[in-house]
Amino acid sequence: MDYSAINIRYGKLAGSDCCLSCGGAINYAKPGVGEVCVDLGSGRGTDVLRMADEVGETGFVYGIDISDGMLEKARQNALRLEIQNAKFIHCGLEKIELTDNTADLVISNCTINHAADKASVWSEVYRILKKGGRFVVSDIYSIAPIPEEYRTDPVAVAECWAGAVTRSEYLETLTTLGFIRIGIIEESKPYLKGKAEVASLTITGMKPSGGCCS
Ligand SMILES: C[S@@+](CC[C@H](N)C(=O)[O-])C[C@H]1O[C@@H](n2cnc3c(N)ncnc32)[C@H](O)[C@@H]1O
Repeated sequence: MDYSAINIRYGKLAGSDCCLSCGGAINYAKPGVGEVCVDLGSGRGTDVLRMADEVGETGFVYGIDISDGMLEKARQNALRLEIQNAKFIHCGLEKIELTDNTADLVISNCTINHAADKASVWSEVYRILKKGGRFVVSDIYSIAPIPEEYRTDPVAVAECWAGAVTRSEYLETLTTLGFIRIGIIEESKPYLKGKAEVASLTITGMKPSGGCCS
């Protein structure tokens, strides 16, 4: 994967305090004391550090990001706040450097739309979740399929719109992989972003527990 456009855009944004989120995943995630949580595309680390506080000393939180600038900022913030139970990992969402069945909770905000291979990302979410683990993800979908010329433009993809897939494609990926209890928590009206009409949603789901009632 070539992440250079992502690295350039988010390297610049790491030092700013502009909002990079597209929904309220963190407000619905409700991490419990002792839980292991993962934030995909953790940016400056704000949601990781909040969850580290919520899970307490017996829990742990991993932030995953590909941007060196964002990771540096997140690590500085963790140091400043003396957070011990969090770690930021430099890797792409398509191959997450965590072992199988690690997480009770995976969150993400405005990141998965960037990934060219979304099925791989969601398959990684499934792999790293424990049985019965859940995800709460805010993301962007497109109202109509994004034309090829934009979909293959790494700069437009890094701007959080050209990599978006349609709502039905989004939901189909989740059901095909075997997630259950999929539900949309919040959803915006369509709006214009870049050269496409998009909408934001916050979606949740669960990896089956394997029991008779899942
Ligand atoms: C729009 S920002 C959101 C940051 C944070 N979640 C927030 O809400 O403030 C997207 C983040 O995802 C990271 N990112 C984008 N594509 C990625 C990928 N394929 N693998 C890992 N990180 C990625 C970027 O570096 C950036 O930090």
